[in-house]
Amino acid sequence: MAQTPSDSESSGQHPTNRPDSPTEPTSTEPVNILLVGGGGREHALALKLSASPRMGTLFATDMANPGIAALAQPMDIPFDLKDPFRLQRWCITNRITLAVIGPEEPLAAGLADILTGGERGGGGGLGGAVPYVFGPSKQAAQLEGDKAFAKDIMRAAKVPTADARTFGDYEAARKYLESRTEPHVVKAAGLAKGKGVIVPATQGEALAALDRIMVKREFGAAGAKVVIEEKLKGREVSVLALCDGRTIYVLEPCQDHKRLQNGARGPNTGGMGALCPTNALDDKLLDTIQRDVLVPTIDALKREGIDYTGVIYAGIMLTPGGPKVLEFNCRFGDPECQALLARWEGDLISELIACCDRKLDQAELRWRPGASVCVVVAAPGYPDAPIKNLTIEGLDEAGACEGVTIIHAGTARTSDRKTVTNGGRVLNVVATGDDAEHARKRAYAAVSKIRLPGMIVRTDIGTDVIG
Ligand code: AMP
Ligand code: GLY
Repeated sequence: MAQTPSDSESSGQHPTNRPDSPTEPTSTEPVNILLVGGGGREHALALKLSASPRMGTLFATDMANPGIAALAQPMDIPFDLKDPFRLQRWCITNRITLAVIGPEEPLAAGLADILTGGERGGGGGLGGAVPYVFGPSKQAAQLEGDKAFAKDIMRAAKVPTADARTFGDYEAARKYLESRTEPHVVKAAGLAKGKGVIVPATQGEALAALDRIMVKREFGAAGAKVVIEEKLKGREVSVLALCDGRTIYVLEPCQDHKRLQNGARGPNTGGMGALCPTNALDDKLLDTIQRDVLVPTIDALKREGIDYTGVIYAGIMLTPGGPKVLEFNCRFGDPECQALLARWEGDLISELIACCDRKLDQAELRWRPGASVCVVVAAPGYPDAPIKNLTIEGLDEAGACEGVTIIHAGTARTSDRKTVTNGGRVLNVVATGDDAEHARKRAYAAVSKIRLPGMIVRTDIGTDVIG
């Protein structure tokens, strides 16, 4: 949507020693891509990348997802970050021009640094194995990987967020929690697959949450530090932006439906569906979020010597006192990405390369008018104990519905070519339409064709329900 160059950098120097810069629209050289990750987000990315006229060969790190396997080639070495030299050599041998890193874990582990050789911007990471790496460096990915770091950056940048304190010591954390008059939110500071945040209703629940995170270590090392913060009230929205280190390009705002059951009830999940765009935000509020959240955050990182390249995702609570940040993610949201890509009209390869090449200021993203809705189909037992190896039928009929794309998120294909459950959130049914209601109708018409006994589906995705 809007486009704002961050104002704290003036360098316009982007040296490139490529005679034919691959970002030029005239470039005809096919682009070989390495896609990292194997969920619904990555299948959606694989589809959109493959639709580009510039697509060369798509290689994928994860071929267990049948949707990705249908579009990509496997790597012929193990995808192992502990062997960076082998990975680099493989990328060079296979002439990988663009790497697209979907999930947070490899970013937090420094995959972007391995592939770029630590160099990027202006001509790509010419010192590295892959010229264009879409995804932030290890340092920048701390914005998601270390909630204490994110809070420090927000404090330094004066970004509106919940008041919070960080603790590495259980006793000190417990005393602080007990001294609060209202129950506070307890967050494992590290990466916990989206599960390390506990929003308690009572003081007792808050103390139990602290015990689970810091003493029982339910989220492992992620719970060595906790962030304890005031509970915010309001409507949540997902604001994602591309960032090339100096230009921020805000994407259409999304609504993620995180709770398991209709009416935003039940436990938090990885996301049961998404709507794009959400009507919870008007352009003015989106501009405010860009000005007061995204720009100062990128600038504060820059002051720390950290250049941010990739997607920055702000989870925002629209409180009576204005928008406040709940969290940052350093990647596309899942399932927001699926809803966003359904409306993304341009050439994704060119746009991601422009982002890696510090040429976002020249990009002009176009969105399909109307709306898109992504409905998640989860296996019975989700989220605690999803049942694997259940046969799913009706996918062809569902996929033939008008305006609908079926994305594989947690499925597998058996030797007799059946599609079976292989995870919690198994499918994403994505539909576009003239407006949210039209897209919703189309998505649910397709969902009704899917046969998976006991499947879990919310029926209010894409409505005004708050969460
Ligand atoms: P996070 O992983 O930080 O996005 O947290 C997961 C979910 O917990 C968010 O989507 C919110 O619904 C909720 N949450 C996180 N922080 C807060 C807060 N300070 N107040 C209220 N809810 C929160
Ligand atoms: N949809 C929320 C996330 O990707 O973290």
